[in-house]
Amino acid sequence: MNGFEELKARLKTPELLAPECLIDGRWISASASAISVENPSTGQIIAQVPKLGAAETDAAVDAAAAAFDSWKTLTAKVRADILMKMYHLLVEHSEDLGAILTAEQGKPLREGINEILFTASFFEWYAAEIRRAYGKVVPTPDPDKRFLVMRQPIGVVAIITPWNFPAGMMGRKLAPALAAGCSVVVKPASQTPLSAMAVAKIAEMAGVPAGVVNVITGSAAEIGPALIEHPKVSKVTFTGSTSVGRTLYEKSARGLKHVSLELGGNAPLIVFDDADIETAVESAIQSKFRNAGQTCVCANRVLVQSGIYDQFVARFAERTSQLKIGDGFDLETDLGPLVDRRAAAGVRDILQDAVAGGARILNDRPEFEDTSAFVAPAVLVDVTEGQRVCTEEIFGPIAPVLKFETETDAIRIANNTEYGLSAYFFTRDNARIWRVSEALDSGVMGVNTGLISTAEIPFGGMKHSGLGREGGEEGLDAFLQSKMVCIADVNSNPN
Ligand code: SIN
Repeated sequence: MNGFEELKARLKTPELLAPECLIDGRWISASASAISVENPSTGQIIAQVPKLGAAETDAAVDAAAAAFDSWKTLTAKVRADILMKMYHLLVEHSEDLGAILTAEQGKPLREGINEILFTASFFEWYAAEIRRAYGKVVPTPDPDKRFLVMRQPIGVVAIITPWNFPAGMMGRKLAPALAAGCSVVVKPASQTPLSAMAVAKIAEMAGVPAGVVNVITGSAAEIGPALIEHPKVSKVTFTGSTSVGRTLYEKSARGLKHVSLELGGNAPLIVFDDADIETAVESAIQSKFRNAGQTCVCANRVLVQSGIYDQFVARFAERTSQLKIGDGFDLETDLGPLVDRRAAAGVRDILQDAVAGGARILNDRPEFEDTSAFVAPAVLVDVTEGQRVCTEEIFGPIAPVLKFETETDAIRIANNTEYGLSAYFFTRDNARIWRVSEALDSGVMGVNTGLISTAEIPFGGMKHSGLGREGGEEGLDAFLQSKMVCIADVNSNPN
């Protein structure tokens, strides 16, 4: 059996594994020109997906623009009912969809299934939220006029999703876009297109009309500009690196597109002397090593106050040594491979740079051949603030630990980065909770926890970590625009 058939054989509903793009309700398979999708754990090719270009991008945008006219005029209740069907289908098929995700991305199966449930939660939340997307009547300054504000969908949305959460990040954007009445063209990352295709299948099964959701795969260099510069695209929403986000922002500016960007991070995780050490260690393990450290919100730098430093690092290293690394389908696995060998090589470079600069690895680590996609986790001490491991977004399972003396020092070190997506800190002191949460330059924060994402909250970054918020009520606002209507009394003087 080849990789595709092996994966198909795992699924209860094999039709969900469809390596096809979707344009205007038509599924398009790979032709001679295709992109291979590889399982990063085994190196096996699991699918070939189409390599589409500018012409197909235009067709997808045209389809979305045509479908927008009728999708936006459905009542909120009708759209909400379809979103709820998507929610139920995602939950029902979460094991299959989780398996597809694990096969293309590498993460442990339980994380894959959890990601599908996370994806589903956005459809449930926005199905409810759109029913309450009220406009307003503004108190008038003029007795002969009334002012109404209605909220309407922005139009066709280009959704560009990353490989680290190929279903979750799509759900965070797609659910509010559909709820608002927008139609979409989704461009998933080339490493992980199968999850986006499967979510599009779910949309079709739930009754989303043809043309409302389109999915295209191919070279980002060709599809990206065709999508972003298309005059019928009103909004671009992207999750990925800060450097790509900057380019997309520049290109979107020419067409005056609405833009939401969820970009890189360099999260501090601060452990104060008065913290519960066991909670801090377990949270650091979750925050740092979930998805093998490939999350924008993961702890990038661990800052520990001097009074508990020795105790914390010893326990953190001990727990890290216990993590099981392996194939995502092995149910014992805590850490899968990185998304591909190139990503793993980049993380090894950062680690070597730190060690060459005097850093020490504290935990036991299995060796992997330096061409595989696996990188063993490492707790690093004796690092300095200027090293790449502290200044760059690592995107791998490397945890540099820095010692600090005072709260002021911790805040200075934490904010000493161009990024501002997430931050975590551990303390039992209520007054400190207020002070530190006000002082940290981060869009989202966890106090005494390392896991913070949920559909109900506004998620997004400050500084170079992005623009706009996804999730919560703000996540729906991002796909709506206000329209003001001034109504004059026809019998009053026309002035
Ligand atoms: C991300 O890594 O981009 C988001 C992860 C999350 O919300 O948990």
